[in-house]
Amino acid sequence: MSFSPKAMIRFNKKTKEFHLQGKDFSYIIKILKNNQLGQLYFGKKIRDRKSFSHLYAIRSRPLVACVYEGDSFSLDTLKQEYPSYGTTDFREPAFQILQENGSRITNFEYQHHKIYKGKPKLEGLPATYVEKGEEAITLEISLYDKLIDTEIQLLYTVFSEWNALARSARVVNHGQQALNLTRIMSASIDFFDSQFEMVHLSGSWGRERYVKMRKLQPGIQSISSTRGASSSQHNPFIALKRPDATEHRGEVYGFSLVYSGNFLAQVEVDHYDVARVTMGIHPFDFNWLLGQGESFQTPEVVMVYSDQGLNGMSQTYHQLYRTRLAKGYWRDKERPVLINNWEATYFHFDEEKLIKIAKTAKELGIELFVLDDGWFGKRNDSKTSLGDWFVNNRKLPSGITGLAQKINDLGMRFGLWFEPEMVSKASRLYEQHPDWVIKVPGRRMSQGRNQYVLDFSRKEVVDHIYGMMAQILREAPISYVKWDMNRYMTEIGSADLPPERQREVPHRYILGVYDLYERLTTEFPHVLFESCAAGGARFDPGMLYYAPQTWTSDNTDAIERLKIQYGTSFLYPLSAIGAHVTSVPNHQVKRITSLETRAHVAFFGVFGYELDVTKLSEKDKQKVKEQIAFYKKNRKWIMNGTFYRIRSPFEDDGNIVSWMVVSEDQKEALVGYYQVLGTANPGFSRILLKGLRTDYEYEIEGIDGTYFGDELMYVGLLLEDAKGKGDFYSKIYKLKAIQSDEKVGMKNR
Ligand code: DGJ
Repeated sequence: MSFSPKAMIRFNKKTKEFHLQGKDFSYIIKILKNNQLGQLYFGKKIRDRKSFSHLYAIRSRPLVACVYEGDSFSLDTLKQEYPSYGTTDFREPAFQILQENGSRITNFEYQHHKIYKGKPKLEGLPATYVEKGEEAITLEISLYDKLIDTEIQLLYTVFSEWNALARSARVVNHGQQALNLTRIMSASIDFFDSQFEMVHLSGSWGRERYVKMRKLQPGIQSISSTRGASSSQHNPFIALKRPDATEHRGEVYGFSLVYSGNFLAQVEVDHYDVARVTMGIHPFDFNWLLGQGESFQTPEVVMVYSDQGLNGMSQTYHQLYRTRLAKGYWRDKERPVLINNWEATYFHFDEEKLIKIAKTAKELGIELFVLDDGWFGKRNDSKTSLGDWFVNNRKLPSGITGLAQKINDLGMRFGLWFEPEMVSKASRLYEQHPDWVIKVPGRRMSQGRNQYVLDFSRKEVVDHIYGMMAQILREAPISYVKWDMNRYMTEIGSADLPPERQREVPHRYILGVYDLYERLTTEFPHVLFESCAAGGARFDPGMLYYAPQTWTSDNTDAIERLKIQYGTSFLYPLSAIGAHVTSVPNHQVKRITSLETRAHVAFFGVFGYELDVTKLSEKDKQKVKEQIAFYKKNRKWIMNGTFYRIRSPFEDDGNIVSWMVVSEDQKEALVGYYQVLGTANPGFSRILLKGLRTDYEYEIEGIDGTYFGDELMYVGLLLEDAKGKGDFYSKIYKLKAIQSDEKVGMKNR
């Protein structure tokens, strides 16, 4: 069956093989002799053929356990699609189900399948989507275990336009007994070999998503979160890259989990050099009781195939996540240039001060004023009032509505900060509902930033917070919400759930967060949401579904941001990467960089300011005006453009960093060039540009002459003007293809 020449799924009845073909990749599954699913191939697209059975090798091996008597069929030596533990395969499985008699052994056999156009929604979970059926094709395979009368549905969606395959699993208990899902991963895949490097994005607060690579070794290598959020320690993403693959060439397989809670991404290299990738909700401290008639849906893994290196993988994620994961009114809209008062005032502001900042900001061309933390309850520091989402009239006598109106009257939009999932002990909410907090009876409640996590696994808690937020959003002219989350979970427990369901709390919590996002984005479709978690501790695809932009990191130093934004760009499009110009010395690292360098880094993201603009000198104000005008003129194509990483801060000595973005029509490009430290007597430097049309002739702002795309990509852009400059130097190059009637031709070069 086929719907689009680029994406096809064929089932060969005779050989019992499924061949999924994306734009440039093939993915082949076989129903094995024992009716379980085997994995035959994932890689560069191959043509279909009568049979792929030659890819399926069974050889007798010493010391293997075999399924049937007198037969060498063993799951230990086969590559599998959604494996279980305990019946001849000794590797870590995709799932495990504890039954009432204490058994964990299951036998899920192929039952039937469906192939259809489009992509179904995942109940209660964020996921990639299609706008028209033709955009994707889906395979649903149903596996069934007779003894426990339970079904596992595996879902595969192949996109026509992108080299992406979305996978998830759903378990349905049709039987009489209650089952415990002790492990239920979204996807598992066995690769033919283990000649890969594992790429991941790891770090901490203030240094999120640093690029790490390591060669696969026998045994298990993994990254994970057990913090109740996807975390700044590890992003829910790994890639397997061939050792010879580079930024722009070679094979890379990406795995990205559309989820914001605890996760595990692991690769197990076995004794025959098979690499098994498993990804999903972290099974550690997880259990889901599945009663009769109940079902459980896993989040989805988006797998990307690239034969054009890491950058090719990133571009696929960028396009897919920008257009078919992010959603709603703001998805394709130009994002307003904002000013946020956090680093300008922290908690110490009043209406007069804010209006003053807003007035100056307006004069500079800023379009959105965002009021950050400290506007509610009695909050003048981080010790109180979270959960009391009503205005502090001492600071803001005309209320949020009055302030928002005044900001609107200046000709700016108004945005507001919330931290919906948290509560302070010193708050009315906590006084009234002390049991609404995640905690365990009789145990100490650990604090983080003096605050406690609300039990979002309880619907009444989510309802209550929704009520408070919705009221403010209904009353005041608010165009933007910054949704913050500033601590991880400890002493995990819910007063509302029975003992046997306590390990469900972290997942139920995330479902509660998604529910609140869903309700708010539905009731207020025109409000732009920006997600935030102490900067980038929950910068993940799950959040991107509801909030098309994310505050990337609390670390706003331009030089530090080079690493952070570079790593973030492995998955996330520029339209998602919140990037602000702040004051110097920088508040996080005390570094002094020029206003130019700060803007040159922030242009490659959703651009804004976070400083007291009233304190800028007239000269700097003029520069800021120019920066904003420049960004406004170019933001539309920057946001939708194709992003190329050119020089990595993580390679060589990381002293030179460069990246660029090219408009969809390839007529415009913006190149960023950054030098961390100045060097005496430097060599010749050039950067090889990417993504230009070889036959287009480009002019570069501030540089004489014109240059053809081939020259800029193969000879490179010569950087004479960047030579010998000092520390933290940066330069941006704005390219524009000239129309044929304006061509100045070779003579002027
Ligand atoms: C952490 C965020 O990342 C900051 O931008 C700011 O909103 C503070 N929280 C406010 O408490």
